[in-house]
Formats: sequence, C-alpha cells, structure tokens
Amino acid sequence: MNEQALSVREAIVTRRSIKNFNGQPIEPEIIPEIIEDAVWAPNHGNRNPWRLIAAAGEQYDELLEVLKEFGVANWKQLSDEDLEKQMKKFTSAGAAIFVVVPEDSRQKERLEDFAAASTLIQNIQLLAWDRGVGTCWKTPPFLDNPKFRERMGVQAGERIISMLQLGHFDAAPKATPRKPVDEIVTYFGHNEQDEAE
Ligand SMILES: Cc1cc2nc3c(=O)[nH]c(=O)nc-3n(C[C@H](O)[C@H](O)[C@H](O)COP(=O)(O)O)c2cc1C
Repeated sequence: MNEQALSVREAIVTRRSIKNFNGQPIEPEIIPEIIEDAVWAPNHGNRNPWRLIAAAGEQYDELLEVLKEFGVANWKQLSDEDLEKQMKKFTSAGAAIFVVVPEDSRQKERLEDFAAASTLIQNIQLLAWDRGVGTCWKTPPFLDNPKFRERMGVQAGERIISMLQLGHFDAAPKATPRKPVDEIVTYFGHNEQDEAE
C-alpha cells in the first residue's frame, strides 16, 4: 500500500480542483493503484455502480485525438497555433478517467448509484492529491454526445458522469470559500426563542 502523506482531514481541506496543469506526464501505473483504493467508496447493495475508462501515457496521446474532435469547436478550421492553444485544456493534463454509471430504471437506485459513484470520484481525487497529483472533475457537454459515447464504447443505459482530469501542476489555486457552518446547519429541536430567554 502506498505510504500516506496526508491525514484524511488534511487531504479533504487542502485538495483543490486543478484547472492549470503543467504538461508533465502521469505515470500510467498510478491509475490502477489509485483506483484499487478508491473503490472502497460506499455503495448500496454492493452494486459497484461504476466502470472507469482511463487513459495515461501513450493512451492519453491517443485520447487527445478524440478530445480534439469533440472538445474543440471548429477544430478543422483552426490554424495550428490556435488549435494548439485550444487543446491546452487537454494537453496540459497527463491522464483522464471517465466514470461511467449504469442508469438504473428504478429512480431510487439510480440516485443511489450516482451518489455512490460521486464518492468514488472524490476518493480518487483525494488519493491523487495525496500523491501530489492534481485532478479536476469536468462535465463538458460532449460527454453526452452520442458519437463521443460510441467512440468511448459507452453503451445504452450508461452515463458518463465525469471526465476526471489528472495532472501535475506548479501551484494550487486559492480556495473558493464555502458557506459557513452556521448558515447551512440547523439543529433539530433548537429554537432561537429558547436562546433569547
Ligand atoms: C459535478 C461536478 C462537475 C464539475 N464540472 C466542472 C467542469 O465542467 N469544469 C470545471 O472547470 N470544473 C468543474 N467542476 C469542478 C468545480 O468547478 C470545483 O470543484 C469548484 O470550483 C470548487 O473548487 P475546489 O474543488 O478546488 O474546491 C465540477 C465539480 C463537480 C462536483
């Protein structure tokens, strides 16, 4: 098992979504290592409601061709220079993991499965962060494009809920503040009237 550098709390509070990667490659071996740990995410009925399509190293280079086609508008019309600029959002990362969830026909199960896969994604993000690798959960509209789905081998009844980018980075962005606890929590049975008395 990989030596853990951060406490759980440290990993949670220091993780940032990385939107500016520095172009350094991701070692393909880390992908299965991270996923092996991340699958300990909670999931109802032990349905393991996820499958992952990952690309790093040479496979990421191949994936870039697909991302160019679906993720850059009018890519055929762009100059080489403009295309390179537009592609930076993909080429600067070193790997991607697409998280695919079955769309259960039962609404409760579908919601549970989406929730479970979200916890898997956060596990991946935290485990990557612990290794000094940045991630960003992305949901570009092309994830639902039938032609893109076909290229990725996604079947009817499945949904890609995340393109998780992984990459190295020079600096983490500043935290985006969250709402204060007082604003988001009410305590059952607690009544401001009681406090005033
Ligand atoms: C469901 C979901 C979808 C997201 N989609 C995108 C996206 O398409 N593009 C993007 O730049 N960030 C996306 N993000 C990342 C958020 O923008 C990011 O988590 C937010 O800015 C908070 O930053 P932090 O994670 O560093 O705290 C997504 C996050 C979630 C949870």
